[in-house]
Amino acid sequence: MLSKKLQDAFNEQMKNEFYSAYLYMAMAGYFQSEDLPGFASWMRVQALEEMTHGERFFNFTCNTGGRTNLLPIEGPPNDFKSAIEVFDQGLAHEKFVTSRIGNLMDMAIQERDHAAQIVLQWFVTEQVEEEASFSLILKKLKRVEGDGRGLLLLDQELGQRVFVPPAQPV
Ligand code: FEO
Repeated sequence: MLSKKLQDAFNEQMKNEFYSAYLYMAMAGYFQSEDLPGFASWMRVQALEEMTHGERFFNFTCNTGGRTNLLPIEGPPNDFKSAIEVFDQGLAHEKFVTSRIGNLMDMAIQERDHAAQIVLQWFVTEQVEEEASFSLILKKLKRVEGDGRGLLLLDQELGQRVFVPPAQPV
């Protein structure tokens, strides 16, 4: 049974994950307006993944006798100056999420909630990947800065990404 304290913290994190989807859709919209369909597609896939992250918290809360509480989600930024700024902000957001997951894990350890620790372990691993992928694209963008052809090649590369639904129900 999820404690009230963890339940509230999980609901808060569920909101952060759904906000992430909202943020990445806003970024997809920006790229669409910049005629960079590959970048836009990459961000849409990222948004879909974030929805599954939110669902993990939703499902875990339900399955452990907790009560879900869908909190208000603030509007994300919609205007960006460049692709570099987008990925800079994306990386900063992922670092924020990583810190929140770390706080949740500390809380679950303190409460000796082993089931919560297992579900959070998945997120700890996921956050390493999330930060790495944003960081890598940011580095590539900085490398091709000012080179329109390089940007188009990167757009093609990012357009290859496809959404892969979780192998097992989340
Ligand atoms: Fe679900 Fe990208 O953190």
